[in-house]
Order: sequence, then C-alpha cells, then structure tokens
Amino acid sequence: MVTEIRYFELNTGAKIPSLGLGTWQAEPGLVGDAVAAAIKAGYGHIDCAQIYGNEKEIGLVLTKLFKDGIVKREDLWITSKLWCTDHAPEDVLKALDRTLQDLQLDYVDLYLIHWPVRMKKGSIGFNVENVIEPDIPNTWRAMEALYDSRKARAIGVSNFSSKKLGDLLNIARIPPSVNQVECHPIWQQNKLHSFCKSKGIHLSGYSPLGSRGTAGVKTDVLEHPILNMIAEKLGKTPAQVALRWGLQMGHSVLPKSTNEKRIKENLDVFDWSIPEDLFVKFSEFEQARLITGSFFVHETLSHYKTVEELWDGEI
Ligand code: A2P
Repeated sequence: MVTEIRYFELNTGAKIPSLGLGTWQAEPGLVGDAVAAAIKAGYGHIDCAQIYGNEKEIGLVLTKLFKDGIVKREDLWITSKLWCTDHAPEDVLKALDRTLQDLQLDYVDLYLIHWPVRMKKGSIGFNVENVIEPDIPNTWRAMEALYDSRKARAIGVSNFSSKKLGDLLNIARIPPSVNQVECHPIWQQNKLHSFCKSKGIHLSGYSPLGSRGTAGVKTDVLEHPILNMIAEKLGKTPAQVALRWGLQMGHSVLPKSTNEKRIKENLDVFDWSIPEDLFVKFSEFEQARLITGSFFVHETLSHYKTVEELWDGEI
C-alpha cells in the first residue's frame, strides 16, 4: 500500500503540507497566476519571502481566492521569511507586519529567519560590505514574541548549518519548528537531516528540482542519468521522482514553477512511491551544494570570509 505523505507534524503540533509552491524567482506578473493555478489544482502550501519582491501580488490573489470561496484561509499554509536587513529585534515585528499587509493576512503559518546573515538596516541588494555580524539570540527572542502574539503560528530558520542550529537550540525558549534548506538528490543533507530529526525540527527542502536556470547553477539535477533511469522505470517525470524522493526521505518539498502544466505535474506525487530497490540508488548521487550563498561572502569586506564559515564546513 502506498503512503501518501500529505503532511508532516511540527513540534508545535501543526501539520505542514508536505508539498508547497516555491515563489523565489517567480516573476511579478506571473506569480499571481501561478499561485492561483496551484491552489485551484490542490496545493495547500505557498512558500513566500519578503525579499522575493512578489508578496503584494500574492496577497491580491489570495484575497480573491478567499472571496470567491475557492479556498479558506485556515485550509492554506503560508510561510514567509525575515530578510537580513531586519534582524534588529525592534525591526522583526515591523517586517512581519509589512509581509502580512502585503499578503493581506492576519497571520502566517510559519515565519523563518531567512539566512544566518545580517545586513545593515535599509541596505538594498547583495553588497557584501553590508554584511555585518549577526546576533541570532536577540533576533530569535523577537521571533519568539511573534509566536507568542500568534501572528506567526510557528517560527523557524532557513539556511542554518547543524552548528548554527545547535547554538540556537542552546538559547531558545521556543525551539525552531523548521530549518528550510537546499535539498534535492544532488544535495541530500543527510547529516543535517539526522541532526534536525534528533532535535524534533522539520527539514523543508527548497530548490527540490535543483534550481535549474538560477544564475551560477551549472549542474542540472533533472538531467541526472540515475534520476532519469528511475523515472523511466516508474513512468514518471524526473521532477516527480525528485519530489517523491524528498517526501519519502521525510522532507517537505517546495518546487517553484510559474507554468500551469508543470505546477500540476509537480503535485502528482502522492498515489505512487519509489520502491526500495530503486530508492537505494539515490545513495549513488555525487553530492554538491548548488546554492552556496557566495553572494554574502568576501575575504575582507563581509562578516563571512568564506563559504565554509557560512555553512560551518557543511559544504
Ligand atoms: P518553470 O517555472 O518555468 O516551470 P526549483 O524548485 O528546484 O528551484 O526549480 C525551479 C526550476 O525548475 C524553474 O526553472 C522551473 O521552471 C523548473 N521546473 C519546475 N517544475 C518543473 C518540472 N516539472 N519539470 C521541469 N522543470 C521544472
């Protein structure tokens, strides 16, 4: 019998839908239609962030979908993220309020510290000179206040190494529910996932299709011969196999698409599974981090001198 794997339970008791629509690099003008198509097709989870620059358009669409009775707020899971310029404790609530205003919502289901990276308040873009020393304990206390206020029904982090997550757990009154990180067959995150599991933290995978088309990403996960061999055997597409692999590993997956056909294709991952004899083949994939965060790193100008330092050697 096939286990569908529709949800994962967080340490708050909430159930996060296992598949969400990614909206990073979903261009304004396209993202609204993509969100509407996804929700109409049955997606229950939309992954947003202030820095993606498209929350206003998503908010307009959500409001219309609620008004037209297509979906109810309580049946949707909305995630958003605190940008690096808003780490100062006094800016955290303001940032969430801005996101809520843009999304036209009263609360988000999950709010994440987007990166363990702090940038000077008000700075724009990715100038490494603006990357200063983070103070995660203080930022986290402000995140905990958002949880207390119920404007964020769960709180967590993104792009945290095991070391940074461990440091956070040592000081947290409310432990993070989620660590959202790059995760796909070519960057499987086995060590980080074991650590998260041992601490009751859910791992959510961004770029589950390998972020093809992103500047600087040269490897195409969906072209991988083993993935294509498995897809052929199962009569599925490589994208569907990559997503189903994530679900069977115990990650939630956040594939981005603005194409209606692919949005629907990516949802067809629940009523079949990868059998054990093919699942073991995933251990043969050579591993490489594709999103290195090098845009935050500079040997003299940034707080982070190397990518090794950013990821505490998990690179
Ligand atoms: P598009 O938006 O045109 O569909 P990731 O989620 O790993 O960041 O990957 C997103 C990239 O993969 C986008 O370029 C997206 O393009 C593409 N993509 C999304 N779904 C599929 C699919 N089912 N098959 C092939 N490419 C896909």
